Amino acid sequence: MQIKRLLLTDFRSCAHVDLAPGPGITILSGANAQGKSTLLEAVYLLATSRSPRASKDVEMIRWGQEVALAAAEVAREERGEVRVEVSLSRSEKRAMRVNHVRRVRVADLVGHLNTVLFSAADIDVVRGEPSLRRRFLNLEIAQISPHYCHALVQYRRILEQRNRLLKLIRDDGRGADTLETWNEQLIAIGSRIVERRVAFVAELSALASHIHSEIAGASEQLSITYLPSFPIKPDEDVSTAFRQHLALLQRDEIARGATLAGPHRDDLSFLVSGTDVRVYGSQGQQRSVALATKLAEVELMQQRVGEAPVLLLDDAGSELDEARRARLYGLVTGGYQTLVACTDTSGLPAEIVCNAEQYRVEGGAVQQWMPAAT
Ligand SMILES: Nc1ncnc2c1ncn2[C@@H]1O[C@H](COP(=O)(O)OP(=O)(O)O)[C@@H](O)[C@H]1O
Ligand SMILES: [Mg+2]
Repeated sequence: MQIKRLLLTDFRSCAHVDLAPGPGITILSGANAQGKSTLLEAVYLLATSRSPRASKDVEMIRWGQEVALAAAEVAREERGEVRVEVSLSRSEKRAMRVNHVRRVRVADLVGHLNTVLFSAADIDVVRGEPSLRRRFLNLEIAQISPHYCHALVQYRRILEQRNRLLKLIRDDGRGADTLETWNEQLIAIGSRIVERRVAFVAELSALASHIHSEIAGASEQLSITYLPSFPIKPDEDVSTAFRQHLALLQRDEIARGATLAGPHRDDLSFLVSGTDVRVYGSQGQQRSVALATKLAEVELMQQRVGEAPVLLLDDAGSELDEARRARLYGLVTGGYQTLVACTDTSGLPAEIVCNAEQYRVEGGAVQQWMPAAT
């Protein structure tokens, strides 16, 4: 899979960008705060519908402007070319388009472009809040499964309505007769999400464990497990377990006016040789686990989609020691289209720099650049 063209208009500091990255490595270098991460952010937004850093769309609109646009022309081996586009507005809802046709469902945008982003923030998936791990799962699975993406949207809607109902029952003593219907909807969609995540994590864990032993040595065995917010016995249906647990929680849920179990409360654990690296791991171990997980994701995505995802490296080597950096850059030279953002190329291995197309990013503008031969 290859981005043939990336077009930005008034996207953060980028007033106008028209970039045609080659099939291999593209280096985007420049001083701090020039717009390098912004370029990768736009690509990530087009792939997942979410920004890796903005919580609101308006943050991505250039100051003083009404609307922002990000678009990419993507060449796929099987499906040919596709153009994905997101336009953001201060006054209206965002508009997503695929091949110029407006799409309402997120699931219709996501999946045309697959990316894996490596950045210094990756370690937060391992050591940060559970919500970051759920977000990681959601964004990765959504990229390979439009059904999952759609189920998530439905689940959020059901959750919101059910929480509203729980508050109504608590505050006004009304609505208890409809709770059962909402329970069944929550269970139906929620169980599908949990099942999909459990399967994804099992596959991811097997791949990550293998990669991790290469990075950290065979004595450090990594396993990633899914931690549901309700107990599921072996051989038990996820939906049966979810239903039973909701019955137990009903009084509490009404008292709190909130849904207390379900995929929005689940978590992941990263165990190295049986201990939880989130709690007990050194920073170095946490980084190895984060990197192995990301590298596993590349492999898994490739297996599932049948094509190599586009790799985005945002200052990704800077936090890693030499061995880990070598592992990451080894991947980059393996035939993926890769966009590398860095302040300068001195930290990159020579074989990457020699084979790369180079661009300078300055004040939100991108210009091809031919480094002087040495
Ligand atoms: N909505 C926006 N409009 C204009 N400029 C913005 C907007 N959001 C961020 N910026 C500016 O963009 C710059 C950061 O860009 P970024 O892509 O993170 O830089 P870097 O090259 O260091 O990766 C900062 O100078 C910031 O002030
Ligand atoms: Mg940056």
